Amino acid sequence: MEIYPIAADSLGTRSMATLIKTKQCSIFIDPGVALGPRRYGLPPHPLELKRMEEHWEIIRKFAMKVDIIIITHYHYDHYEPEAPELYRNKRLFIKHPTKKINYSQKERARYFLEKIAGLPESMEYSDGREYIFKDVRLKFSDPVFHGTNKRLGYVTEVSVNDGDLCFLFTSDVEGPSIEDQIKFIENEKPDIVYLDGPMSYMLGYRYSRISLEATIKNIIKLLKDTNMGELIVDHHLLRDLQWKEKIQDVLEVAKKLDKKIVTAAGYLGLEDDPLEAKRKELYGG
Ligand SMILES: [Fe+2]
Ligand SMILES: [Fe+2]
Repeated sequence: MEIYPIAADSLGTRSMATLIKTKQCSIFIDPGVALGPRRYGLPPHPLELKRMEEHWEIIRKFAMKVDIIIITHYHYDHYEPEAPELYRNKRLFIKHPTKKINYSQKERARYFLEKIAGLPESMEYSDGREYIFKDVRLKFSDPVFHGTNKRLGYVTEVSVNDGDLCFLFTSDVEGPSIEDQIKFIENEKPDIVYLDGPMSYMLGYRYSRISLEATIKNIIKLLKDTNMGELIVDHHLLRDLQWKEKIQDVLEVAKKLDKKIVTAAGYLGLEDDPLEAKRKELYGG
């Protein structure tokens, strides 16, 4: 299996867009990209707008060609409702549009389903389900909190297993700090996990120290008790320029156990370029 993060916060935009290729099929998880509307009181810098356009073009190019598209929840950094052509003749696996969903995502899901009506070859509400397609087994978690409570709704985590490798994509768990978020990861026994990480850039107001501590404990547990050899961590965590300090204990344990922790950029062999976190600098102050 080959895994390609296509857009990510470490690459300069808000996204976890990921392309997966196995011997027999291709899968796109969360083909969307967005920018933080305000950061440090500043709007997106022109450099961010340009990067977002570039990322969207690459997402579009690859998503047009895959067999399967997965949407883990209805936030615009994870799907694009105004590009219905992406879904033509696809096998589509989406978060349930009416169950275990908050009001704003339910409205967005309804609009999205209207836009793509009749286009996909098949469409499944995949919450908690398991599917086999060609050489791949897809397993979706039951809906888990988008973060530490139900205010922002729910996401589905998903694991992709081709018999050689199990890749697990957590989507926006902002942790994992909650029991069922971590349980799914443990049960799937993944080799590689792609995690959005704790929202440490909002520590003390939108994200509590207790949640950060629980998350650190949980990631260390994954490192120690499972065969996960590599952790890609990005998205929420990479909005914090001091992210390495925030999860220092995790990095130390990983080092001792000889397990790799990388950002999406690092996974691709590139330097981190988290433009949103650097926005103040970009504006020259
Ligand atoms: Fe989200
Ligand atoms: Fe997100």
